[in-house]
Amino acid sequence: MKAALSLALLGATSAFAAKASLSSVQRVTNLGVVPNKFIVEVAQASEIPTKRSLSTPHELLYRSLEERKISFNVEKEFDAPGIFIGASLFLNNTQDVANILQTDGVVAIRPRSYNPSPVSSRVVSPGDAGIPDSESTHITTGVDKLHARGITGKGIKIGMRVPGIDTGTDYTHPFLGGGFGPGFKVAGGFDLVGDDYTGANTPVPDPDPLDQCNGHGTHVAGIVGANPGNEFNISGVAYDATIFSYRIFGCTGEVTDDVIVDALLMGVSDGMDILTMSLGGADGWTEGTASVVSSRIAASGKIVTIAAGNDGASGAWFTSGPGNAINAISVASSDNTVIPLQSLTVSGVTHDPIVYYDAVPLPVNQTLPLYVTSNDTTVVDDACNPLPASTPDLSGFVVLVRRGTCTFASHQAHQHRRVWREHDSYLRVEHFGTIHSLNLTINSNSATGADLKPIDVGNFSAVLIQADDGVFLAEQFAAGADISVTFPQTGGSVQFPAPTGGLVSTFTSYGPTEDMFFKPAITAPGANILSTFPVPLGSWALDSGTSMATPFMAGSAALLLAVKGKSLAVATGARTAFQTTAKPIPSTLTDGDPLQTVSQQGAGLVQVFDAIFGTTTLSRTELLLNDTAHFAGPQTFTVKNVGTSIKTYTLSHVPAGTAAGFPAGSIEADLGPLALATDIASVSFNTGKFTLLPGQSHNVVATITPPKGVDPTTFPVYSGFIFVTSGNETVHATYLGVAASLKNAQTVDNTDVVFGIPLPALLDSTGNVQDGPVNYTFVGDDAPTVLWRQTFGTPNLLLDLVSADIQLTGTLNRRGPISFTTPQTGGTFAKVPTVGPLLQIQWLGRNDKVNDLDNTVLLSNTFANGTVIPNGSYKVLLRSLSVTGDPTNEADYESWLSPVFGVAA
Ligand SMILES: *[C@@H]1O[C@H](CO)[C@@H](O)[C@H](O)[C@H]1NC(C)=O
Ligand SMILES: *[C@@H]1O[C@H](CO)[C@@H](O)[C@H](O)[C@H]1NC(C)=O
Ligand SMILES: *[C@@H]1O[C@H](CO)[C@@H](O)[C@H](O)[C@H]1NC(C)=O
Ligand SMILES: *[C@@H]1O[C@H](CO)[C@@H](O)[C@H](O)[C@H]1NC(C)=O
Ligand SMILES: *[C@@H]1O[C@H](CO)[C@@H](O)[C@H](O)[C@H]1NC(C)=O
Ligand SMILES: *[C@@H]1O[C@H](CO)[C@@H](O)[C@H](O)[C@H]1NC(C)=O
Ligand SMILES: *[C@@H]1O[C@H](CO)[C@@H](O)[C@H](O)[C@H]1NC(C)=O
Ligand SMILES: *[C@@H]1O[C@H](CO)[C@@H](O)[C@H](O)[C@H]1NC(C)=O
Repeated sequence: MKAALSLALLGATSAFAAKASLSSVQRVTNLGVVPNKFIVEVAQASEIPTKRSLSTPHELLYRSLEERKISFNVEKEFDAPGIFIGASLFLNNTQDVANILQTDGVVAIRPRSYNPSPVSSRVVSPGDAGIPDSESTHITTGVDKLHARGITGKGIKIGMRVPGIDTGTDYTHPFLGGGFGPGFKVAGGFDLVGDDYTGANTPVPDPDPLDQCNGHGTHVAGIVGANPGNEFNISGVAYDATIFSYRIFGCTGEVTDDVIVDALLMGVSDGMDILTMSLGGADGWTEGTASVVSSRIAASGKIVTIAAGNDGASGAWFTSGPGNAINAISVASSDNTVIPLQSLTVSGVTHDPIVYYDAVPLPVNQTLPLYVTSNDTTVVDDACNPLPASTPDLSGFVVLVRRGTCTFASHQAHQHRRVWREHDSYLRVEHFGTIHSLNLTINSNSATGADLKPIDVGNFSAVLIQADDGVFLAEQFAAGADISVTFPQTGGSVQFPAPTGGLVSTFTSYGPTEDMFFKPAITAPGANILSTFPVPLGSWALDSGTSMATPFMAGSAALLLAVKGKSLAVATGARTAFQTTAKPIPSTLTDGDPLQTVSQQGAGLVQVFDAIFGTTTLSRTELLLNDTAHFAGPQTFTVKNVGTSIKTYTLSHVPAGTAAGFPAGSIEADLGPLALATDIASVSFNTGKFTLLPGQSHNVVATITPPKGVDPTTFPVYSGFIFVTSGNETVHATYLGVAASLKNAQTVDNTDVVFGIPLPALLDSTGNVQDGPVNYTFVGDDAPTVLWRQTFGTPNLLLDLVSADIQLTGTLNRRGPISFTTPQTGGTFAKVPTVGPLLQIQWLGRNDKVNDLDNTVLLSNTFANGTVIPNGSYKVLLRSLSVTGDPTNEADYESWLSPVFGVAA
């Protein structure tokens, strides 16, 4: 299993150092596996031919494990026939996994952990009545029109409940109902883990899902259901829906799959109509336990909304599980059209109030004089060095410094009050407190408002102002003006137009999945969202992430059910209804630029009113074209007139930009944001204009031809929209494919680009590349580590022990990246002589160059089944099956043979 990744931070477009150091590689097994914990899925007893149907499937499992002398503890049982039957086990010996897989009735065994992170949490002062409303997100999605008609989730029979599976909820918040239990907005739920749970320790459940230490779940709950009438003039999308809160995170840390599955099944048995999860970890496949369970729950008639992930910086094929669940609605984020910010006023010169990036006023009551550290408005290293001795004592000043070539962090380290360190060409205003206690900063930005954003300056608050304003202040100061600055504590709020408002948030993870499913499914507003926060943490906060977009979709789903009624057809048709009516999002605000790739925006920005009241439906909207080797070009869908008047429809094709996943000829995925090309697919239809009476439908066959002349080594993901238009109503189907065969994607890095040493590698007990023959005792630290990187995911990864004199050349042992077109030769998979298996992992996602550089496995002196390896000389054979490869065909694996090492235990 892929390492658990936290959802990346907004704007954390971390400059990646091309080479990481080998010493940063940990000599551990880092595959995201929580030690000794596994989820075993079993078939229903009646489906196990050799067993009697008298026993429960769980008893059969435990008996079989006992017969095999496997030492285990049952931590949790899952018994939801048709959805998930199985158990979460603690295994004393993780090597028993191979043994369990061979046990009758076992369908799958998987480990896993996740981590949800709210992004850039900023607590807003509740006392600031001047902050403008955030109903902008409702206006751009048609939610305002539903509220205007009184559609808020009200009048729904018991069971219109929107549970949040998250960090818990501060239901004491006055705008979240102020209480817990029947009759309150937060009517139920459960704390499955307790405050101290970290994902690595034992959960301590209790019935109360109160969260006053984290805040993520409270922010999410407010997006679904905050009551109107608050000082910020915001409301939840479905504020009359009832919320059940299932808390699965402690105050900090991660969560394991078994807890997620438990919460999901609890929500199902509590009768939830909608399940929403603002969590996930980059995964790439649809096959993780929580993904599989979520997908089955969605198919059973619940609407399941899950975050797509915040790993946009990591490039394509990188969406999160469980959001990758095939039947769930995986949600991308768009930037809010406005950012609620504050402004300062200046005296001594004439200027409008100056916007600064903070949702809360800086806590400064006095009017303070301004000091500017450089009169040169183009200086690049302003205040990077100690200021001249002639500088006055700056206590009590607001200091403007141009952001330049040095970093802010080093300033803190030096504890020198006059040294500024920053890395962009921003301008900064700062208020110095006393010497050595620098508490408050105001930063201004480069050329335009485009980069106005929060900055992380450590322990004291800091804000940006725009460059034009900074230049004005510096010029006036240089001209001798006596400038003072005031930070109004009320009334300074501004509704700052977001320069990227309406676009897909760059942090949104890119799909598709490695098995070419359509993730994300749809976009909802998720960046710069003001919502409720735990009362002890300030009551309100501005947050960004696909975590914030996901509850927006859950609330939208609640409105849909409120109007259309709860039925299997409405629930299982919800994603199609939302996708059909969503609004395709451009890639930039420049006219003529292509639409954003469907692999990041899904079917477009949700239009809730149209999804509910539209009068034309499509039977399918995700036209999954797969890769060129499994190409599904002709796509059929049915257009139905569900209105009350006769309609004449026309068809048209609007492509989105084509997003190459890899630079030409490179095996390393491109980092996001991905460039878009205009090589587009062509589409022809079996029909021209057609007319439908109310209730009539018509089949459309769209024949889609992938773009011509594109370079398949770049794995270009092409996508677009087929519009079905009648008068002022337009709905669309959305297609997605890759103009290459994924089987040609090299899955394992055999370059030295990342660590400066050729990969894969065997590291010795000091963490250096094993140089010449070494015997390992497997006592203490004396064991080798296998280090490799997946440049693409693999359905099947194996480490086998083989004889030191095996007659085999690993495909990856040849120098240089594998040529795409060279067929890999060799016998079939089963014919490769191995001494015994060490490890097998299915559905391993790719590594990236942002968060998750490598995979490591620390070897032990046992085979996967726990049997001790006899002393002797061996090599490790690493094999990685290509995407869509045949697991029984050796030629479909990339392989690597380690140097010889000795087992001398
Ligand atoms: C298995 O591990 C558990 C927990 O560490 C321990 O209580 C138990 O005694 C172990 N059983 C065996 C057979 O080693
Ligand atoms: C500013 O002054 C007001 C009114 O006197 C007071 O309530 C508030 O606490 C002060 N704020 C700060 C940050 O000093
Ligand atoms: C700055 O921070 C220090 C340490 O936290 C605190 O003692 C001091 O009062 C703060 N000064 C101002 C002006 O807020
Ligand atoms: C900047 O201009 C002001 C006003 O003319 C002057 O007092 C100050 O010394 C100048 N600063 C520098 C660093 O030259
Ligand atoms: C694409 O084709 C592969 C290979 O047949 C298959 O495993 C996968 O499920 C297909 N994807 C979709 C979305 O149909
Ligand atoms: C669309 O056209 C219909 C019928 O002409 C009209 O009733 C409706 O108001 C129009 N809607 C919009 C958004 O223009
Ligand atoms: C490893 O152990 C074998 C068997 O004892 C021995 O023949 C060989 O010389 C040892 N090699 C090294 C490098 O120590
Ligand atoms: C464990 O695996 C090894 C290597 O495949 C094999 O030789 C041994 O017989 C197996 N042991 C058991 C108990 O199945």
